[in-house]
Amino acid sequence: MRSTDALSYHAESKRMRSTEFPDKVLLAIESSCDDTSAAVIKGNKILANFITNQEVHAKYGGVVPELASREHQKNIVPVVHSALEEASIGLDDLDGIAFTQGPGLMGSLMVGTSFAKSLALSLDVPLLGVHHMHAHILAHFIEDAGEKLPRFPFLCLTVSGGHTQIVKVESPSKLTILGETLDDAAGEAFDKSAKLLGLPYPGGPLVDKYAELGNPHAFEFSISNLEGFNFSFSGFKTSVLRLLQKEMKADPQFIENNRDDLCASVRFTIVNSLIKQFKKAAKAEGINQLAIAGGVSANSLLRSELQRLCNENTWDCFIPKFAYCTDNAAMIAITGMFQMMENKKVELSAKASARLPF
Ligand code: KG4
Ligand code: ZN
Repeated sequence: MRSTDALSYHAESKRMRSTEFPDKVLLAIESSCDDTSAAVIKGNKILANFITNQEVHAKYGGVVPELASREHQKNIVPVVHSALEEASIGLDDLDGIAFTQGPGLMGSLMVGTSFAKSLALSLDVPLLGVHHMHAHILAHFIEDAGEKLPRFPFLCLTVSGGHTQIVKVESPSKLTILGETLDDAAGEAFDKSAKLLGLPYPGGPLVDKYAELGNPHAFEFSISNLEGFNFSFSGFKTSVLRLLQKEMKADPQFIENNRDDLCASVRFTIVNSLIKQFKKAAKAEGINQLAIAGGVSANSLLRSELQRLCNENTWDCFIPKFAYCTDNAAMIAITGMFQMMENKKVELSAKASARLPF
């Protein structure tokens, strides 16, 4: 394997092409929350990416950690089996095992971690412990993630159910948080608003769907405008709650009668706040390549507003394809591949960490 210095991603502004990834095959496992996923990657080409969603949580209005880890235990063997079969890869063909080491739900992470460790031990191949939030960002380097690959340095707005961060990405292993949420994540802001509107968990995609039919200016919700590049969504959630309480006194059917406008206004307010801070960070850093990542990057308004911002400023825009937005093992696979290129493997004693430092 070539040394890190020789790799072109450290060469300034040089495009990374798929031929510059090693001809190695990895199996990757993601089990940080409620999706069990396994992927097989060769170089930066995904050969299979299997995901099993856990329906069991819907009736509780959120992920129940104990149920999630039990579901992972049931799903992990069939999911890995399906991924290997689809990729036509045998266990003997694997050059390494990548897994999500954290952050996430401890019980869920432990299922993937123990599985990955046992397999790496039995096959005697390197074990690659991946940070879930790095993986959301590095998913942009999967061969079919988008029309073009980002160049370093670029800025990424990572928006998921647990995190909201603006990250400066100088190399696959040099990622710096410039700003983040001080309370709720953007995905939580969507999901909690959706819950107030009587929508099932996770409500983000439904808010997005109904928002397409509504007027984004029908209702005004307050949202914190912070100095610097941080975010805050807890006041916004309270503002949604207050409006609903007030209006429902006069009209108990208020939500049913205004669902689309409410969703459109919620979506507009959250996306506006995200874009505003992201634009500020890009100008301050003088970086003209902007990417989005994480579950909320599937949001159609966020995607179109980022595209608009980049068009207006003639900046480059990187929007991942839907399959790589929400949690998936393909993103763990590409990050594991970068770590393998840098010889950054972990020991068999590696532990899952619910709060793995960035
Ligand atoms: O990255 P992800 O799959 O899991 C975490 O690591 O958290 O993100 C899940 C989050 C949920 O909050 C979900 O509601 C949100 O992403 N989400 C969306 C959309 N699709 C998923 N939020 C808004 N609009 C969407 N289209
Ligand atoms: Zn995620």
